[in-house]
Amino acid sequence: MTSSSAGALNWAVVGTGFISQLIANDLALTPGAVCYAVVSRDQTKANAFADERGFPVAYSNLHRALADPDVDVVYVGTPHATHARIAVAALEAGKHVLVEKPIAVDEGDARRIADAAARSGRFAMEGMWMRFLPAYRAALEEASSGAIGDVRSVRASFGLPFDAPESPRWSAERASSTLLDQAIYPVTLALDVLGAPDRVWASGRIRSDGVDLAEHMTFDYADGRFAQLAASMVDYAEPTATISGTEGWITIPAPFWSAFEYQKRSGPIPDALARVDTTTFSRDGFGYVPMLAAVTEAIMAGLTEHPTHPLADSVATLSVLDTIRLRIIETAHEQRSTHEAHILQ
Ligand SMILES: NC(=O)c1ccc[n+]([C@@H]2O[C@H](COP(=O)([O-])OP(=O)(O)OC[C@H]3O[C@@H](n4cnc5c(N)ncnc54)[C@H](OP(=O)(O)O)[C@@H]3O)[C@@H](O)[C@H]2O)c1
Repeated sequence: MTSSSAGALNWAVVGTGFISQLIANDLALTPGAVCYAVVSRDQTKANAFADERGFPVAYSNLHRALADPDVDVVYVGTPHATHARIAVAALEAGKHVLVEKPIAVDEGDARRIADAAARSGRFAMEGMWMRFLPAYRAALEEASSGAIGDVRSVRASFGLPFDAPESPRWSAERASSTLLDQAIYPVTLALDVLGAPDRVWASGRIRSDGVDLAEHMTFDYADGRFAQLAASMVDYAEPTATISGTEGWITIPAPFWSAFEYQKRSGPIPDALARVDTTTFSRDGFGYVPMLAAVTEAIMAGLTEHPTHPLADSVATLSVLDTIRLRIIETAHEQRSTHEAHILQ
């Protein structure tokens, strides 16, 4: 433990972009978390971020920040391509880490972080905040309790055109990817509800530089269960989720990955169509507080992983995302050869 005050942990936020700003605001609302340092590649940006949010320390050099004995926890809010490098460096410097989703760009990279965490004995977790939200947890618990009978399928999409595809945020250099950025949420929901699929079908749109813009996926299970999932950063794909069973269904409204309520419809027809039971929860900050509080508590309790989102789950999710990426590429090749065959006929 470093010299932070008893009962509190000093957090350092790496990156001053979109998500770091939201996380810093929610860190200020998190019991036991101290907004201590910010790390940017640019001192002016670091100073502005720190001044605006009351962080006492601003660094423009990651390694100087990691050498600061008063930093307890490093939050990594940088582009995908940089996650593993920064997380491993922080763990090797003896810091605890919370790494934005996706924890890494592929399964192998995620395993490198897990290995570094095991060597260091420090806490490490991916920032899969959805899993900590009370509405998400209650919806899943209700589905698994038998309230909608046997669960048979999941439908979930994350299609929101955030930035124009030509935006510098969508670059191969950053490992930008709709699969890694957006599809990770519907995929996580499907894995949470149905488990690892027996077969994965996927198709999508990939730019010539390899950045995927949109994809849709079907997970098949040997017993007939299935998941239909979609993600896009160029068009809308209704950002809701549904878990369906033999006796009803649960809908998590838009945006499902940060929802604070869910609806259940169940019973025989026509009751199931007519009656809606809505369960609503309060919202803390922008929605990151439950995760930040859980991480802070876990570290103070001496845990090296959080049971709600252990590293093995991040590795398993990335393995499925790797499979989806492969299927998208295979499907694109098949479609091209079918198209060419049609032209030749
Ligand atoms: N949990 C959520 O709700 C949520 C929402 C959006 C994004 N995310 C995730 O958060 C991460 C960052 O996304 P973002 O939307 O915040 O991106 P962003 O706005 O571009 O911010 C990323 C920041 O990282 C820093 N950085 C360090 N190395 C960099 C490099 N090589 N190139 C560019 N920037 C670099 C930059 O800060 P400095 O210039 O100060 O160094 C930059 O502002 C991604 O993993 C993304 O998937 C999560």
